[in-house]
Amino acid sequence: MKMNHRKYLIVALIATFFVYTGISGVLATVPVQTTKEQSVQVYHSFHPGSIWNDTNGKVINAHGGGILYYKGTYYWFGEHKVAGPIGNTAQVGVHCYASKDLYNWKDEGIALHVSDDPHSDITKGCVLERPKVIYNKKTHKFVMWFHLELKGEGYSAARAGVAVSDRPEGPYTFLRSMRPNAGIWPLNFKKSWETSTLQPDSLKGWTPAWMKAVEEGLFVRRDFKAGQMFRDMTAFVDTDGKAYLIYSSEENLTLQIAQLNDNYTGFSGKYVRVFPGGHNEGPAIFKDNGKYYMITSGCTGWAPNSARSGVATSIFGQWKALGNPCVGNDSDLTFHSQSTYILPVHGMKNAFIFMSDRWNPRNPIDGRYIWLPIKMSKEKPIIKWRKSWNLNDFTNR
Ligand code: DGJ
Repeated sequence: MKMNHRKYLIVALIATFFVYTGISGVLATVPVQTTKEQSVQVYHSFHPGSIWNDTNGKVINAHGGGILYYKGTYYWFGEHKVAGPIGNTAQVGVHCYASKDLYNWKDEGIALHVSDDPHSDITKGCVLERPKVIYNKKTHKFVMWFHLELKGEGYSAARAGVAVSDRPEGPYTFLRSMRPNAGIWPLNFKKSWETSTLQPDSLKGWTPAWMKAVEEGLFVRRDFKAGQMFRDMTAFVDTDGKAYLIYSSEENLTLQIAQLNDNYTGFSGKYVRVFPGGHNEGPAIFKDNGKYYMITSGCTGWAPNSARSGVATSIFGQWKALGNPCVGNDSDLTFHSQSTYILPVHGMKNAFIFMSDRWNPRNPIDGRYIWLPIKMSKEKPIIKWRKSWNLNDFTNR
């Protein structure tokens, strides 16, 4: 490998200046790009909040992401964001990266493209958030679910979108979007709530009477015919092969957990409400020692807030709140981020990575990824800030 020594010297001097003056934390943790050959860097650890490049030396663009493990490879799917406020809408689609070691990610391109057809639900300019891919062992299809808002309708459509592919990295074919479980009551819904005549506009918002009505299914009833609202979401495949979507519903006031049908491309009709009136977003879930754990955020738009956690012995509940899993400085703001996914590390016992987004709504392409190890303490997940860490962390505890 031949190097241009003059160019190298100048870049190295500038880099040394930045590192020693402490101007850039990013330069201090990630090798500096010098010549073309050297721009490909090999990572051996995670650096939460720092610029994270793919194996081509380009910044990873996969926000609100989720990860699929398939045949020895991890596939990271996330929102491809562009610069400026327009980046809060989908201009490109869902980006996919592949990795064997979780540190170094190869660009696999756009797995699902937004459509040029103005009549498509996923037309360019829609809002397409938090894509998650699961693999169906029976159909051998990869199924991508995401939160979809129709172009020009703000966040009012609150729909679930689904796409499929024969290969993990795609391309994915968009099937349809929908509101889940139209005409079906949740499993944990009281009979008397089904027939209540209380309507959202007959009560003043945020009063105790309104809160009680929310808990007793005010918005489930309102959306019964059209289907339940579907916003921040995650997907989960249980050990018995049944798959579930967990999503913010009922005006983001209540989470719902809905079982998917056998081919994972629609709903089975079984669903429950979790933490009614609890105002949770960013749901992420994992299973440890037969118990289900959930981590969520509160609802403050793109601004960070305190995370919450919960536990259940059955995915359909009862769910019990466990409080904020984050500890230490900035734990009240989830280290300036919002949960998106919890990744079980393949081949390691009790090893889970908390994945969250440090959003940048003014320049969404510059949102950062916060990946931190989850430690279990007395059957409660605990997350601490780490400037850098690696997978050995799970074995040395
Ligand atoms: C917070 C959600 O968690 C994000 O996914 C996104 O929908 C923003 N709200 C939009 O304001």
